[in-house]
Amino acid sequence: MKIFRQGAELQKYALECKRSGKQIALVPTMGFLHKGHASLIDIARQRGDEVIVSIFVNPTQFAPNEDLDKYPRDFEGDCKLCEAHGATAVFAPAPEDMYAPDRSIWVDETTLSKVLCGKSRPIHFRGVLTVVSKLFNLAQPDVAVFGKKDAQQAIIIKRMVRDLNFPVEIVLGDLIRDTDNVAMSSRNRYLSEDERRRARSISESVFYAEKELKQRGVDAVGTVIQYAEQHIAEAGGIVDYVEVLDSSDLTEPTAESSGVLFAVAAVFGTTRLIDNCFVDMPGKN
Ligand code: PAF
Repeated sequence: MKIFRQGAELQKYALECKRSGKQIALVPTMGFLHKGHASLIDIARQRGDEVIVSIFVNPTQFAPNEDLDKYPRDFEGDCKLCEAHGATAVFAPAPEDMYAPDRSIWVDETTLSKVLCGKSRPIHFRGVLTVVSKLFNLAQPDVAVFGKKDAQQAIIIKRMVRDLNFPVEIVLGDLIRDTDNVAMSSRNRYLSEDERRRARSISESVFYAEKELKQRGVDAVGTVIQYAEQHIAEAGGIVDYVEVLDSSDLTEPTAESSGVLFAVAAVFGTTRLIDNCFVDMPGKN
């Protein structure tokens, strides 16, 4: 497995791969990889001759009050996991290599990024889209694999690819849960044992919502939001949002919506966790 530290080297390599007719699959990550990432690399392996995993804790998607400095890192462990799952290259640049000190160009989104996480993290998606665009230019992927765990991010990246005509197919991997049903996340390592136990109220709310929405469609929206807000608060979580939105455009769902996204963000201790499910509306598919 190759390790690239410089964007220019990766780009040269990727262009050579393309010239020799290879399909490139990219898995963008911020490292501290877990089973959820491994499942994305497995998908990439099926889709590409070359599987490039980027490991970059992207500073531009963190606000000054967020956890950039304490974001967990384990480069050696990450490389082992990548290799074990068949990655052919890892791209791990330094922030100075990714961003010129006088950078002045951003990729921004003006609608989908204003709801859900965008309300409490107003600069987050601009940072994500900018770095993902750069990664697409450097790794030249035919396919890029993202997780449904970051549902809003996935929907916004698909919109970017459509609106800016990136020649990349976006493939989404399922949200992966740990044995206690907590959604896999690098941030779970901040949770104490007690917080982790209480954080199960999030996935319990997701399962309840999935069942109700599948059965009753948009009529269940009010009930599932109320249940989740109460259930998480009773477990000691601070709810940032619980929302049900049309999964095609993140607007309020209507009787015509064919699918919805139930999405939750809540804080346990100092750790902000997100979870979600996509649900097809009964009789609409
Ligand atoms: O999902 C993530 O880990 C990050 O937001 C991404 C897509 C790698 C961009 O930094």
